[in-house]
Amino acid sequence: MSTDDTPSALADHYARQNLEAPGSLDNFWMPFTANKQFKAKPRLLASASGMYYRDVDGNEVLDATAGLWCCNAGHARPRIVEAVKQQIGTLDFAPNFSMSSPLPFKLAERLAALAPGDLNKVFFSNSGSEAVDSALKIALAYHRVRGEGQRTRFIGREKGYHGVGFGGMSVGGLPNNRKWFGPGLPAVSHIRHTLDVSRNAFSKGLPPHGLELAEDLERQIALYDASTIAAVIVEPISGSAGVVIPPEGYLQRLREICDKHGILLIFDEVITGFGRVGHAFGAQRFGVTPDMITAAKGITNGCVPMGATFVSERLFEAFMSGPDNAIDMFHGYTYSGHPLACAAALATLDTYEEEHLFDKALQLGDYWQEALHSLKGLPNVIDIRNFGLVGAIELAPRAGAPGTRAYDVFARTFHEGHVLTRVTGDVIALSPPLIVEKDHIDRIVNVLADTIRATA
Ligand SMILES: Cc1ncc(COP(=O)(O)O)c(C=O)c1O
Repeated sequence: MSTDDTPSALADHYARQNLEAPGSLDNFWMPFTANKQFKAKPRLLASASGMYYRDVDGNEVLDATAGLWCCNAGHARPRIVEAVKQQIGTLDFAPNFSMSSPLPFKLAERLAALAPGDLNKVFFSNSGSEAVDSALKIALAYHRVRGEGQRTRFIGREKGYHGVGFGGMSVGGLPNNRKWFGPGLPAVSHIRHTLDVSRNAFSKGLPPHGLELAEDLERQIALYDASTIAAVIVEPISGSAGVVIPPEGYLQRLREICDKHGILLIFDEVITGFGRVGHAFGAQRFGVTPDMITAAKGITNGCVPMGATFVSERLFEAFMSGPDNAIDMFHGYTYSGHPLACAAALATLDTYEEEHLFDKALQLGDYWQEALHSLKGLPNVIDIRNFGLVGAIELAPRAGAPGTRAYDVFARTFHEGHVLTRVTGDVIALSPPLIVEKDHIDRIVNVLADTIRATA
């Protein structure tokens, strides 16, 4: 490496390193990736702006996934870029254990104002996985601090994804994410998932069938007894499982059952948070207030890692009964409330607010829905699901080779159509940045139609 040290030469050097393909792909063990397959035909993104990436070959790629459900305001938005640049030169790091700085407080206050009900206390972390593990630990400690320390069981749901920590893995319900890694937390059970293509295929918005599946929770409670159960955790909409939309009334019913038995309800809103479904959180769109919400991704528009666990006043107050000089919860991360993440998040919230981006999924929801459902009838399309600015196209699996058809559609959509989608199992999942316009939607759907037709 040779650079002269003037600021503009350094800026040029560090910007340019994104544009050049790496000499070797050998050393980066890529997460959740078929490394051999990827490295044989890589997809490398070099820069991003607004609705588009540019790849290292110079192709402009339309982003139909907000990165990875992250960049809800689109890419390289000016306020966010400026805030991060300023922050790194002003306060690069400040500890938050018995010390702090202004930004985490300012951010928590802004976030509390967005959250539903009295979920006014915000515990910061660095990812969705950490936000989830924090919520699970808060649930256990909450019961213990109130003298109900025997409430140690968690109830997750089949097909749930709650990140990759041992807590999130244990309450999650995707077999591949669990089976390699041992038994996980000792007391976890799962209610049934709500995906029912046989009854609900091609429903628009909330599927009509499946409310009765909430009663599975009563069965778990009958089996284990409510007095042993700390919390239920679900995603209002499952993303990683291939976009599973809750049946009408289902989340309300979970809330009623939890209330009846003194069980906490946690909504994992890592993907449904920050405008994805037409409100700050899915909780507001669905009209159900949980006891905790976990968030990440869109909180900083994806540009600096950050997670957040929103906790109700009632839960927080239970921890405040000890002496003033006692640490109230023995949990936290070196980077909880990192100044760079806080600066990014504050500018992200400014951008969401200034551009009314939380309204976008309501304004464009019908157009999005009709555009996606126009793919019905194409070869191998067995279901289309949508809600807010989320969508999924499920393809029939190839005999003996599940997942390969959707992967081929995804790869072709990228390499030939220059549209970035997401593949999970035999589902193409879509979650465009909220700055998406009708012509972008048309292009996403047209390219998908071509690639689905072209993929046997
Ligand atoms: C619902 C949900 N929870 C948790 C996570 C984990 O977040 P992270 O990858 O930031 O740890 C994800 C990631 O996609 C998610 O969708």
